[in-house]
Amino acid sequence: MKYPLILCIPLALANCSTEPEKEPVTQSMESASAMQGGEEIYMLYCAQCHGATGDGNGVLKHDRPARSFIDGGYSFGNTVHAIAKTTAFGIPGTPMPPFVDMLSAEQMESVATYIRNFAPTLAEAREDEKEMVVTDSPLVARGMLPAINPTLKLHPRGIVIGNPDRFSYEYRVDDVRLLSVRQGRFVLRADWGERGGAPLELLGGVVVLVDNGDPDGLFTTKDGEALHAKLKSTNTMHDYGEISYNLVAQDGRVVAQVMETCRTTTGTRTLIEQVFDIQANESILIHPPSNTDVSNAPLVPVGNHSFIITHAIYGGDSK
Ligand code: HEC
Repeated sequence: MKYPLILCIPLALANCSTEPEKEPVTQSMESASAMQGGEEIYMLYCAQCHGATGDGNGVLKHDRPARSFIDGGYSFGNTVHAIAKTTAFGIPGTPMPPFVDMLSAEQMESVATYIRNFAPTLAEAREDEKEMVVTDSPLVARGMLPAINPTLKLHPRGIVIGNPDRFSYEYRVDDVRLLSVRQGRFVLRADWGERGGAPLELLGGVVVLVDNGDPDGLFTTKDGEALHAKLKSTNTMHDYGEISYNLVAQDGRVVAQVMETCRTTTGTRTLIEQVFDIQANESILIHPPSNTDVSNAPLVPVGNHSFIITHAIYGGDSK
């Protein structure tokens, strides 16, 4: 026998086997206790909307129904990790609240284990090497961007920045500009490990299409000369991914340096804030996309300035 008998005493309640080779005792113990804690948390925090049986029929009813966990049709990933993440951040624009300030990481993992069990036959989503899954810090995928819809063009050089709140930002980088904002899973790479080839497959649903997916450049000189946004770098060190570029005039002079970050706002209505930190060597003009708001006047004077373009999202809203 592999284990001394004494180990079985504390395990006696949880059907301790004398043949540990046949039954992975310690493992099922762990998930059993996680399940117990998970049930308590579920009944306290989740059942009023998702229903005591997980069928989505809780006592609180919303315009937008809570998800049934029985059929296992998760839109944001069905691994314990993915469910815990949805629990932490909520689903902005829907009644699903974030629990990150209320529950510990362990509690969120227990409740995720518990609700996953409502659909017992669920297969673990394949987080194989092809799918890039954003966990605790932002990720950047580089590659060819497929056309967002059939009327738009493919962008051979693109970058997608995925943030832990499950929003991702699609940029063309031949002349840096934001094309769309998506919500949900991040990116599938069909040609993982190889260079070039198949476009990235963006898995999130589009919630913002900037100027119908084909925006003009945002910046000109104050005389109206278009400035080329030349990619410098991306940075994933902070909570939200950052993209930096130079604004270059036709004669090659660098007119300004820009660091851009996109983030969601919290509140009753989720908005996307596109935040620019600009170091301007000459004054420049900003031409915001349609259907957006800008935080200050479009003329950016020489010096360091920040401003914000706000995008309304659609698709995530309750009406
Ligand atoms: C105030 C109501 C409410 C409460 C409380 C609530 N939820 Fe939700 N939840 C919702 C709604 C509504 C949705 C569906 C949102 C949508 O339309 O996509 C949802 C969706 C989800 C999803 C997304 C499933 C998917 O599609 O990937 C998960 C996971 C989830 N809830 C877990 C929880 C957990 C865990 C708790 C408790 C800790 C909880 N919810 C508490 C309303 C609620």
